Amino acid sequence: MADVDLGPASVARVREAADIVEVVSEHVSLKRRGRRWVGLCPFHQEKTPSFSVDPERGLYYCFGCHAGGDVIRFVMELEHLAFPEAIRHLADRFGVTLPEASPEAGRRARAADRARALLAEAQAWFREQLLAPRGSAARAELERRGFPRETWEDYGFGFAPDAWRDLLEHLGKRHTQGAILEAGLALTSDRGGSPYDRFRNRITFPIHGSDGRIVAFGGRALGDTEPKYLNSPEGPLFHKRSTLFLLHRARRPMGDAGHALVVEGYFDCLSLHRAGFGQAVATLGTALTADHARILRRLVPRVLLCYDADAAGRKAAAAGARVLLAAGLEVAVVALEPGKDPDDVIREEGPEAFGALVDTPQPLIDFLCADLPPDPAERRRAGTELAPLMGSARDPVVRFALLEELARRLDLPLEMLREHARGSGPPRRAAGPAPAPAQESIPPGELCLASILLHCPAGRRRIILEHVDTGFLQSSRIRTLVERLEALDEDLGSDAASAILEGSDDPALVQLLAELSLGDLPEPSENGTRAQLRRLLEQQARQRARKLQEAIREAEARGDDGEIERLQAEKMRLRREIPEI
Ligand code: UTP
Ligand code: MN
Repeated sequence: MADVDLGPASVARVREAADIVEVVSEHVSLKRRGRRWVGLCPFHQEKTPSFSVDPERGLYYCFGCHAGGDVIRFVMELEHLAFPEAIRHLADRFGVTLPEASPEAGRRARAADRARALLAEAQAWFREQLLAPRGSAARAELERRGFPRETWEDYGFGFAPDAWRDLLEHLGKRHTQGAILEAGLALTSDRGGSPYDRFRNRITFPIHGSDGRIVAFGGRALGDTEPKYLNSPEGPLFHKRSTLFLLHRARRPMGDAGHALVVEGYFDCLSLHRAGFGQAVATLGTALTADHARILRRLVPRVLLCYDADAAGRKAAAAGARVLLAAGLEVAVVALEPGKDPDDVIREEGPEAFGALVDTPQPLIDFLCADLPPDPAERRRAGTELAPLMGSARDPVVRFALLEELARRLDLPLEMLREHARGSGPPRRAAGPAPAPAQESIPPGELCLASILLHCPAGRRRIILEHVDTGFLQSSRIRTLVERLEALDEDLGSDAASAILEGSDDPALVQLLAELSLGDLPEPSENGTRAQLRRLLEQQARQRARKLQEAIREAEARGDDGEIERLQAEKMRLRREIPEI
C-alpha cells in the first residue's frame, strides 16, 4: 500500500473535512440542542445524556466520564482503529487526498515489510524443527504441558534448536545479515564478533499484532536455562507496551464472555485458551500499561485479573487495577491459591475448577482490603492510601461505588476519602502513540483561567497572559494551553479554541479543549469564576513575591545595591498589578 503522510497538516485537513456529527451519529443517537448535539455517552453506561458534540469546532465531550476529543479520536476509540488507520479511514470517507509519505516514512514501511517476511520464514522453520528428530525434547515437553500434537499448528508452536547459527544460515540464503538482525532473530555480542541466533534450545511461539500478523516470538527454555522466557526485542513491529499475547484470537471470546481475563504468563494464557477460556490475554513480561487498558476498553466493559497470589503478583494486580480503572473499565480479581498459576489450576484441577473461579470473581474492593491490618487505626491509615487508586476510576459510578464502600469499611467519612483521592489524581499518561488522555485533575482556578482565556476578548487575554506565570501552573495540560496561547497571541480571534486546535495533534490538549468548549464549566462572566481566577493570580503573585524576597535577601548579603533597588521596584510593581485584573 502506498504510504500517505500522517503529519499535522494531514491531520488538520482530515479534521476539517470530516463531519463529526455524521460520524458520531453512527454510534450515538444525537439530538440538537442549540449549537450542540447531545446524546448518551458511548464511552460509559448512562441513562441521561451527558455527551455532547460541538460541530463548529469538531469536538466531543462527556461531562460524566470526561472522554473528549476530536473526530479522529472518536473513530479510534469506537471503531477500534489505530491513529494511522483512523486518518486513512476518515480521509477516504470524506474524500480527502493525502500527500505521499516522506522518503523516511517510506523507508520505514519497507523495513517493516522486510521484517514481516523474515518472521514468517522463521516461523515456518521453527515449526519444521519441532517435527525434526532434534525436536523430540520439545515435543515431549509440549505434550507434558497438555498440548498434544494436533494443537501445535493452531498455536504455532515451534522449536529453536540447540545451535548457534542454524536459523541465521537458513535465512541467510535469501536475506542479508542486517535484515535478520533488524528483525530481532539474531544478535551480536557486546564484544563484537559474528551474529548468532537469538532463540536457542527453546520451544517457540509466535506473538501477533492486533491484525493477526506475527510481530515477534517468545521462547520457553527447555530445562532450567535462564532466562526461562525470552522475547524478540522491541522494534518497528513489536511494542510490548501495546501488545497483548493472544489478543488476535481473544476478541470474539471476550465479546461472548463480556469480560477479558488478564494473566501474567505465556503458558497460562495458552493453557486457558486450550481449556476453553479464549477471553484470556497476557502481558509480555511487563506491567499492564495504559495502552493495554485502552485496547481492552474498546472490547469489553470488565476485566478479571488473574495474577500470582504472592506479594509481587498482588502488587502487580493492584497496579494493573489502577490503570484499568483509569481507562474506564470495571475490575475484579480471580484469586488463586498461593503458589499456583492458572496453568497449574487447569492441569491439576481441570477447566471446571478454573471456570468456577471465573464465575465468582473477587470484587476489587475485597481484594484490595484483604491486606489491610486488623488494628482499626492502622487499618484506617493504610485503607486511606487505597483512595487514590479507587479515585482514579474514570467511570464516575464505579469511582463512587468504590470510595463509598471503602468509607463504609473503614468507618470514615466519604468526603474525606474523596478529598484524599482527588489530591493525588489518576496516574499520568506516559508518552506513546496517541493513547486516550488520562484524566489529570486540574485545580479549579487553573480550569477557570483556561476557560476565561479561551472565551475573553483578545485585549483582556493579553493582560491576563502577562500576569500568568506558566512555571507556577500545576496542570501540564493547562500549561501547554497557555503556552500555545502566548505563542499565537495577536492573531487570535474570539474563538481561540479553534485556532489552537488547528495546530495541534496532542490528544491530551485536544481533550482539554473539548472539555473547555463543551464541559459544564461556569460562564466566565460569573462572579465566582472571577474570584477563582483572582485567587489563582494572587497565589502566583505571592509565590513570585516570595521568590523576589529571597533574591533581595541574597542581594543584601552580597551588598549589591543596584540589584536590591531593581528587585524592590519589581516587588512594588507586583503589588500594584493584582488590583488591575
Ligand atoms: P513465571 O516465572 O511465573 O513462569 O513467569 P510461568 O509463566 O509459570 O512459566 P512456566 O509455567 O514455568 O513455563 C511469568 C511470566 O513472566 C514472564 C513471562 O511472560 C512468564 O510467562 N517472564 C518470566 C519472562 O518474560 N522472562 C522470564 O525469564 C521469566
Ligand atoms: Mn506456570
